[in-house]
Amino acid sequence: MPHSLPLPKAASPDSSATLAASDALEPSMPSVLFVDQSGQLGGAEFALLELAGSCVARSEVVLLAEGPFRVRLEALGARVEVLSDAHVSGVVRQASVLNCLRVVPGILRQVRAIAARARAFDVLFLNTQKALVLGALGKPLHRRPVIWYQHDILTREHFGRVQLSVVKWLVRVAVDQVIANSHASARSLAALTGIDVETVPVVYNGIDASTFNLTDGSDIAALRRRLGLPERAWLAGLFGRLAPWKGQHVALDALTRLPDAHLVLVGAPLFGEDAYAQRLREQAAKSGIADRVHFAGFQDDVPAWMKAMDVILHTSTEPEPFGRVIVEGMAAARPVIAAAAGGVIEIVRHGENGWLVKPGDATALADAVDALRADPALARRLAQQAQTDARTEFSVDRYVRRMTQAIEKAAR
Ligand code: UDP
Ligand code: GLC
Repeated sequence: MPHSLPLPKAASPDSSATLAASDALEPSMPSVLFVDQSGQLGGAEFALLELAGSCVARSEVVLLAEGPFRVRLEALGARVEVLSDAHVSGVVRQASVLNCLRVVPGILRQVRAIAARARAFDVLFLNTQKALVLGALGKPLHRRPVIWYQHDILTREHFGRVQLSVVKWLVRVAVDQVIANSHASARSLAALTGIDVETVPVVYNGIDASTFNLTDGSDIAALRRRLGLPERAWLAGLFGRLAPWKGQHVALDALTRLPDAHLVLVGAPLFGEDAYAQRLREQAAKSGIADRVHFAGFQDDVPAWMKAMDVILHTSTEPEPFGRVIVEGMAAARPVIAAAAGGVIEIVRHGENGWLVKPGDATALADAVDALRADPALARRLAQQAQTDARTEFSVDRYVRRMTQAIEKAAR
């Protein structure tokens, strides 16, 4: 789980400078107020968990909703305050002008509350788009350097026009430093705002490889028995929240072309996509593959579930900003087949550490599964290289070190 690293003094982005063991030992480090809109455990929240968990003595986390994320933060010793407002929580991704007007009073309350907290810290670190809006709007009140960790590709495929305009304006007038989770995300920001992409550092998420050593993947049958999965079937695993753009329907479609394979969907509809989850079940029933599809729901022990698979699929139909599940599949030493768009092509090199397919193309996905199934030596080679890359290029140490350097720079 997350490491205990300090906010280090000064080091170049690739420095291997040794870091002290506790942030309490670095009293001159900037103190940070982190803000995240969600109480749920999405990828952006896992990224914050590792960062906030590394500097609990000099930080606090404000969440805009209750949920399991709070519990996970507190388990790491983080101080957490929840400032929820039912009306503001109701603003959805495709925000309309009318929606925005209705929630103005609630927004102002939250802007003031966050600003009041921020005054007690050196830096304000905003981890999601609603956090960006509420934290950046309060800049005249708190006057603290504002960092935004951008986890999204800012295009019309993903967001509404109003939301993009708000982000564009806030980034220009109230954000001191944007940090992007991939070059793809950074490029989308540059295209939206006109700011120079060179001024946006990219910090990839780190994945804690040690959690993947806790499960022994050598006795697959025993592992599958423990998880309630069929012991002998050929299993493809798809991990992530159930949401239309994550493309679970594409995997179901591909399964109709893979007669004896099974598909395990690990994840839940975290942000109100229950109708999509229901449609997936109907699709499986209608296609006559329900007996080969396993809806596992949200699982905490992702490493164990990944190790139980023969192959890991990633099927996002829109460009994935980063894709933690891909790096996790790599860390689990499983061959990963991923949709080639967005940040994914910064992680996966086709035929070297994974396999890339056209997003949304179920036939190509089924062909890729067939190809890896027919050539176990190739699948093994990809998985081995993937595990090496996950450990070296996407370590939590590297992630926390780069993040803390960026935070320190913004604080100066
Ligand atoms: N995850 C989890 N349990 C599940 C499904 C997903 O803990 O049942 C985690 C997964 O391991 C990953 C994160 O949720 O760390 C999803 O992050 P990703 O970047 O892949 O996608 P996002 O949901 O942020 O778009
Ligand atoms: C977002 C993105 C995902 C990324 C995660 C962590 O939730 O959708 O692609 O991996 O943030 O940066």
